[in-house]
Parts: sequence; structure tokens; C-alpha cells
Amino acid sequence: MPDDQQSGAAPIQPVLDAMRASLGPAGVLTDPADLAPYLTDWRGLYHGEAIAVLRPASTEEVSACVRLCAEHGIAIIPQGGNTSMVGGATPEARPRQVVLSLSRMNRVRQVDTADMTMTVEAGLILTRAQQVAAEHGVFFPLSLGAEGSAMIGGLLSTNAGGNMTVRYGNARDLMLGLEVVLPDGAVIHGLRRLRKDNTGYALRHLFVGAEGTLGIITAAVLRLFPAARETATALCAVPSEDAALALFRRFRAADEGAVRAFEYMSGQGMRLVMANIEGAAMPFATPGEHYVLVDLSASREGAGLRGMMEEVLEAAMEAGEVADAALAESEAQRVAIWRLREEHPEAQKRAGASVKNDVSVPVSAVPELIRRASAACLALIPGSRPVPFGHMGDGNIHMNLAQPEAMSATDFLARSHDIMDCVNAVVRDLGGSFSAEHGIGRLKTDMMEEWRGGAELAAMRAIKAALDPQGIMNPGKVLPHA
Ligand code: FAD
Ligand code: MLT
Ligand code: ZN
Repeated sequence: MPDDQQSGAAPIQPVLDAMRASLGPAGVLTDPADLAPYLTDWRGLYHGEAIAVLRPASTEEVSACVRLCAEHGIAIIPQGGNTSMVGGATPEARPRQVVLSLSRMNRVRQVDTADMTMTVEAGLILTRAQQVAAEHGVFFPLSLGAEGSAMIGGLLSTNAGGNMTVRYGNARDLMLGLEVVLPDGAVIHGLRRLRKDNTGYALRHLFVGAEGTLGIITAAVLRLFPAARETATALCAVPSEDAALALFRRFRAADEGAVRAFEYMSGQGMRLVMANIEGAAMPFATPGEHYVLVDLSASREGAGLRGMMEEVLEAAMEAGEVADAALAESEAQRVAIWRLREEHPEAQKRAGASVKNDVSVPVSAVPELIRRASAACLALIPGSRPVPFGHMGDGNIHMNLAQPEAMSATDFLARSHDIMDCVNAVVRDLGGSFSAEHGIGRLKTDMMEEWRGGAELAAMRAIKAALDPQGIMNPGKVLPHA
């Protein structure tokens, strides 16, 4: 609701009228029922307020909205698929702010299979980007559980990781050029398709991972890769975290270039998936406390991946590093194995409250991280259920903790920051990071001072002040209040 009467600020209604004139009626939502889905996150943990949701359909319209907001001191919360794990896309409870959704900017502007690039708008959903690449006989490798909703602008703004980072890198590594609307409405036209471009500060990289605090990404040039002509996927039960790491080393030694994903899952996580996800089934009878999913691919036919997979697993079994394994014999089996991994967040959500710890350590320290952080969480909250899983090949484990069955969700969530501190103490000791791929959002701003204080945080604040002197871009996110 317009609140300018109380605040003494310039009236909002004429600004909304100007926005409607610029975006058309479909471009400005103000009805509370229409606003509701934009004002909370997918887990329902964060809630906020906005006077409107703006839905521009072009870069020019984004620029016009931002200019109006800048002129009238209205804060902007950019939003893509609203799948943030850290409340990054949810507004806070403040007056004079709008959510700016990129969902209508969803065009593919160009696909170039000679240069292996794809130029797309920020609101393109990731699965659509993957499909378009496949329709052109090539491959776009970003892949994560939220891919049916997450959008290219949001993925770049969080520098998303996901399942194939071990071979292809983070979202940042998949981007060559960006188009960005700055906090004063000016547009950086940086959609260059260049592999080499050393021309001063690499501004494009500033906006990747900035979580919408420096400007709005409206379009991007993405890198494409040859399509896989051969794949091999296996789910393995392994006796320990160390065995999981040893198996990763074996595959890397056999053919590092073939490893497309190497994901770890715990027995606890698998049990949650079995109990909460319809149709989920283990492909073998051996129960385990530790599992890994190995996915190999090659762009060359006849690469012999199946043979390589069998050889490595056989040797690992002889060495006692693998207890049981199931190799996908069909695309349907491959999808079913991946589903066991991908449904971990949903299974956890259905199992009650959970606290997410998206952390990374050097790959060699992953077993120690899992053991020590699990023990520390159990000591802190007896009866809680550690659910470590994730991107072992990147040293990025989701050290998530599910609530004890006998505790209320509210009481458990009240301990969130104690739990995060407890995990982070182990992470710090192992030389890791408290935020590997999900970002800072509004969940982790209070950790920035301790982990990135001093010169790093001062430089971040200086960049923010230079680009967004009014502080209108996604306030309350990433940087702690000064
Ligand atoms: P949003 O949630 O809408 O926004 C994320 C942040 O980016 C916010 O700060 C927002 O303000 C900003 N933003 C959005 N669009 C723009 C834009 N165009 N310009 C500037 N700023 C913008 N993440 C991973 O990294 N790896 C995973 O494996 C992974 N798995 C997930 C699984 C599930 C089931 C879910 C729900 C989430 C998962 N995530 C994962 C987290 C999430 O999907 C990513 O953070 C994703 O990158 C967010 O994309 P989005 O379009 O939903 O962005
Ligand atoms: C994933 O990899 O599935 C998500 O990033 C992890 C999570 O839900 O914590
Ligand atoms: Zn993840």
C-alpha cells in the first residue's frame, strides 16, 4: 500500500501510473493476491512487502522502471525463479520498494553453434535453455534441482553451481558477456561473444554473484559445449566418507575429463527420500550409510565409458571402497538414479524443518568435514538428523540438519544460527567457505564481517557505494548493515 502519506516522501501513485504507462497493465501488479507469491520464498521462511511487482518485457522497459525508481528513491528487489535458498529474492518488510520480476524477458536472442554461444534473456528458465541447446545439437551444462523454475539472470546473479560444476565450472565460467541495467537506469551493452577480452576491469564478472545488489542482468551470452554421445551413470554404496573420496580419485585418475558429476549422499538423506518421495526406489538391496552418484560423459562415440566405469568399480570393490553398485542400463534408469539425488531438498522439506549449511572445503577435507560437522550438530541438538549431501567433486557439501522428530519446527529453527555457527567452526578450521554456491542473501549477512571483514568487505562496500549510491538495489542482502 502506498505509504508516502506517513513518511512524507513523494507520493507513490503517480510513479505507479508512470510505470503502467511504460509497461502496460500486465507489467505492473498491485493486487495483494497477485503480489503474494513474489513476497515469500519457496520454503516459506522469509516474507516481505512491496508496493508493486514490475514485470518489464524488454531491456528498455527495465531501464525505464529503474530510472523511475532511482528518481523517487524506491528500492528494487530483482527476482527470477524465486528459488533462492538464502532469501535473496524476497523483499524485506520495508516501505517504498518493488519486486522487479524478469519472467517476461524470456527470449532466446541467438544460438551460434560455430562460436558455441547462446544469447538469452534473463528470464529464460534453465530447462528451456538446456532444451534449446539440445535442439541445436549442443549442450548447456548448468544443471540443478531447481532447473524447472530458476532463470538465467538469477543463476548468474548467484553464480550458481549445481551438479556438473566439477567439469564445467560455476555459472560464472559459462558466461562470456552480459547486458546489465545499472541502478541509475543506464545500460551496459556487454553482450560480447569473445573468448578473450581484456579491456579494463572485467565489469561483467562484478554482476555475477552480486545477488542483484549492483544492477539488473537483462541478458547474457552463454557458452555451449558438444553434446554427450556416450554416458555412463552409477549409484554406489560405499563403506565410508573416505571410500567416497578414494573413489573420486580413482575416476579422476582413470579419465578426469570424463567425470561430469560426482555427488555424495548419506544413508539418512536416502531414507528421507525413500520415505517422502513417491516412486523413489533404491536400485540395489545393500543398505548403506554412504552413497555416491558417478556420471561420466564423452562427446566422442565409442569412448568406452561403460567399460571404464566397470573397471574402476571392480578395482574399487576389490580394494573395499565400494560395497555395491548399480549401473544405469537405460535412460529411464539413469533418470531414476538422478532422481534419488535431486529429490534431497524436496524430501527434506517434507520431513519438517531443516537448517541448510551450504559450505565448501578443499576436496581432500570432505570426509573430515562430514564427520566432524555431523558430530558437532548432534552434540548441539541431540536427536537432530544430519543430512550431508551434494557436490563432493567440488568440495561443496550441504551439511543440512533435519529437526529432531520430538522437537517443534519453531524451536528447531530458533536455533538456526547456533547450528550454522557450529558447522562453520569446523568449516573454518578446514580452510573452507561458509557459502559455497547459494550465496549470502538475507540469511548470511551477519557472517560477512567475521569471514570477509577488513579490506575485502571495505572494497565490497566501496563498489556498492560507487554503483548504487542511494542503496536502492536489493537492500539488506549480501552486505551487513554498516
Ligand atoms: P532468484 O531466487 O529469483 O534470485 C536469486 C538472487 O538473484 C536474488 O538475490 C535476486 O535478487 C537476484 N536476481 C535474480 N534475477 C536477477 C537478475 N536478472 N539480475 C540481478 N539480480 C537478480 N543453487 C546452486 O547453486 N546449486 C544447486 O545445486 C541448487 N539446487 C537447488 C535445488 C532446489 C530444489 C532449489 C529450490 C534451489 C537450489 N539452488 C541451487 C538455489 C537456487 O536455485 C539458485 O540460487 C538459483 O541460481 C536461483 O535462480 P532464480 O532464478 O530462482 O533466482
Ligand atoms: C542441492 O544441491 O540439491 C541444493 O543446492 C542443496 C540444498 O537443498 O541444500
Ligand atoms: Zn547444491
